[in-house]
Amino acid sequence: MDFSIKSLDAKSTIASIKTGCIAVAVFENKNLSSAAQALNHKGDISAALKSGDISGKAGTTLLLRGVNGVAAERVLLVGLGKEEAVSEKDFSSAVQAMARVFTTLGASDAIIALPLDAVAARDASWAIHSTILNTRDAAYRGDSLKSKKEPAASGVRKIAFAVSTVSASIAKEAVAHAVAVANGVALTKDLGNLPANVCTPTYLANAAKKMAKDYKLGVEVLDRKQLQALKMGSFLSVTNGSDEPPKFIVLKHMGGKAKDAPVVLVGKGITFDSGGISLKPGAAMDEMKYDMGGAASVLGTMRAVAELKLKLNVIIVIPSCENMPSGSATKPGDIVTSMSGQTIEILNTDAEGRLVLCDALTYVERFKPAAVVDVATLTGACITALGHHNSGLFTRSDDAHDALAHELLNAGKASGDTAWRMPIEDSYQEQLKSNFADMANIGGPAAGSVTAACFLERYTKKYTWAHLDIAGTAWKSGAAKGSTGRPVPLLTMFLVKRAQAGE
Ligand code: BES
Ligand code: MN
Ligand code: ZN
Repeated sequence: MDFSIKSLDAKSTIASIKTGCIAVAVFENKNLSSAAQALNHKGDISAALKSGDISGKAGTTLLLRGVNGVAAERVLLVGLGKEEAVSEKDFSSAVQAMARVFTTLGASDAIIALPLDAVAARDASWAIHSTILNTRDAAYRGDSLKSKKEPAASGVRKIAFAVSTVSASIAKEAVAHAVAVANGVALTKDLGNLPANVCTPTYLANAAKKMAKDYKLGVEVLDRKQLQALKMGSFLSVTNGSDEPPKFIVLKHMGGKAKDAPVVLVGKGITFDSGGISLKPGAAMDEMKYDMGGAASVLGTMRAVAELKLKLNVIIVIPSCENMPSGSATKPGDIVTSMSGQTIEILNTDAEGRLVLCDALTYVERFKPAAVVDVATLTGACITALGHHNSGLFTRSDDAHDALAHELLNAGKASGDTAWRMPIEDSYQEQLKSNFADMANIGGPAAGSVTAACFLERYTKKYTWAHLDIAGTAWKSGAAKGSTGRPVPLLTMFLVKRAQAGE
């Protein structure tokens, strides 16, 4: 799908553009947006509204053909809701409805002439971002492994945003940013949707190597021997029951000055989480192929960063393995020594995410990071707490960490990929007490997502750190089962803002 800008001046008016379809907005109060008025010379648009065929509520659409005085073959009326108060949600549901119509249209090109400044406190860049992400989402197909693919949707392939000449350069930048994010989201979805017998740690390592080649990034993949030499006893304990070799993946985009401290993203890369000896129940266990969602999202984010050539040093780190039961698997009660030297009593082998992450969080100390953000499908408890709307955000609560938390929360709001802050406090740390080791790997049934974050916190004392629990946001279950590509929009927005702040 191709997105571009069509800048309008006195000569090229909306009515004179030759295209398969123009999308314009109408409102619940039956008013027309200014672009809709410009197509209403002969009163066709107001007649359509009067007919009652479209209410103007957000998400309603009506396709018209052969509108008098209009060069475009079709006009798509898109309801935007209340003219005086278009919400972010109204705008998104309107563009989602538009995108659905586009996927089945007989035309291959379209112009979007919606009012990009309709949402209060949101600008045209936001509207372009929302439109492109929703449109790419509607067109996404997860059928790479079906022998009979769904027939290629006819649908619109080329989309241009109609904007005034004055705002064209800002709009161009917004399109480039949003397309990069959408490409990152698509990579994350593709990797997430692949089954665990295809998407192994080795597969993820090869995906990282390919990206390094395509975008000239630095790449390093450590294997079991090297991980043993680094004394990653916690990470390695998770791999004991699996025949798939573990991989520790490091990918570097050094777009900033050589001396600038990098932002490091760490993604949980469990390509299948059976629970190990603490075996999970069978129902929906297939969804544990998504337990590498953190890894997929940092790879997707890296793709967006590289495509945008961000002037920022960004390093992604992925500890990747399977969590399987077998005669050689780690047993409940086993005690392991992490790379940090701290010992861990593994009371539940299903709490494996923190065991692979803690060694990765120690490893990244060597980069002297400006900030570290880990991303993980870490706890079912996070879904209980926040559902599927917000990722859980955890940091310590001193000034530096409050600042990082706000950057991430704001990036979430600006990209529509939101997070909600959760606590880390000493009182919860007590739940991790072990009689035999420095800590246990579980903290009991209460506040499970918080004690998981508290566990990670013990490995992040040397830098500013945030943890995103994406268990509820990385994929959808049920009929719409599939990876969502989250939190690539949040992470990319966070990094784009950091790069801008450094300019
Ligand atoms: N990958 C799971 C977390 C998860 C569960 C994500 C369900 C999405 C949906 C993680 O490794 C896990 O199993 N966590 C346990 C921790 C518990 C044993 C303390 C959990 O959440 O049940
Ligand atoms: Mn688990
Ligand atoms: Zn897991």
